[in-house]
Amino acid sequence: MSDLVTTDLEVAVSKISQGYLCAIPTETVYGLAASATNPTAIARVFEAKGRPTDHPLIVHVAEVQTANLWIKDLPKWTEQLVNEYWPGPLTIVGSRTELASNQITAAQETVAVRVPDHPVALKLLAMLRDQGIPGIVAPSANKFGQVSPTTAKHVINDLGHYLEAHNDIVLDGGACIVGIESTIVLVTKDTPVILRPGIITAEDIERVTGIKPTSNTESNIKVSGNLAAHYSPKATVEVINDVQNVEFKSPAGFIALSNISTPANLIRLATPTTTNEFASSLYSAMRLADEQKLERIYVVVPDANGIGSALIDRISRAAHSKKHEI
Ligand code: TXA
Ligand code: MG
Repeated sequence: MSDLVTTDLEVAVSKISQGYLCAIPTETVYGLAASATNPTAIARVFEAKGRPTDHPLIVHVAEVQTANLWIKDLPKWTEQLVNEYWPGPLTIVGSRTELASNQITAAQETVAVRVPDHPVALKLLAMLRDQGIPGIVAPSANKFGQVSPTTAKHVINDLGHYLEAHNDIVLDGGACIVGIESTIVLVTKDTPVILRPGIITAEDIERVTGIKPTSNTESNIKVSGNLAAHYSPKATVEVINDVQNVEFKSPAGFIALSNISTPANLIRLATPTTTNEFASSLYSAMRLADEQKLERIYVVVPDANGIGSALIDRISRAAHSKKHEI
């Protein structure tokens, strides 16, 4: 049997400290981790994903104190934000310390940091910290531009050959609960700026900080998820609002909340009962369409409450890319 997959944290710690890559579970999606202080290992993260080196990485740390080794000069309201949401699906982007290399930040003066809320990831980060490794970089463990993985099997489907050939490993921690990537907030200004929407919403941030966040309007901030085309399966994604008025081309897949019944001849890919469930099943459902070699997926997007607006963001990007390729 291959040694690619493990549940043994000691093995994962030893691999990362020797400079190997290790795919890790988080509450959002699986990340492809490397020691954040090992330039050779970080270079291989970019190589494995086929990711351009001008797309910066998130540093994952065990807790706030360790975050302070990477990020500095935070405004007061950031403290409220991280006290409320760390560990959790919140990434902050702020002024970098000297520890945060150009390789991690794509030569920007800011660095992205988060404390993931997953027992396996948190234990791993604490064990690494105790061995003198103050953080790991971990972009989503998929090929650049494609759908993020929410299970160890997804990681193996995408990167298994590469990882196996390089003696890297996958730490299996079960399916991710949130299912879409963390909310990214820029914290270098007087007001929070949401760079990538997620389950933590603008309303949540306003409630905790008392300040209304704005959306990103600066084109010079490098947020790869902000490319119009991203998060895309091979199948063409079509967003529909009303199943009544559509002439469906079949065979095709169908994703919608469970109260919307499946139109004739379409293949149901997910039946979430809530918007949160919609998020946790979306990427699996898109991958299922590709496994079944479906050319098209129709998605009825949920309304914009809670995680809904982040879902609309991800689904529109998935839809956008295909429109432009055709
Ligand atoms: O939920 C998540 O955030 C997952 C899990 C694994 O933690 N990670 C993730 O990483 O989604 P990645 O690399 O796929 O997306 C990170 C995003 C990218 O869009 C990147 O451009 C942005 O964070 N980013 C990183 N550093 C940044 C910086 N200094 N300024 C602006 N954006 C930054
Ligand atoms: Mg990604």
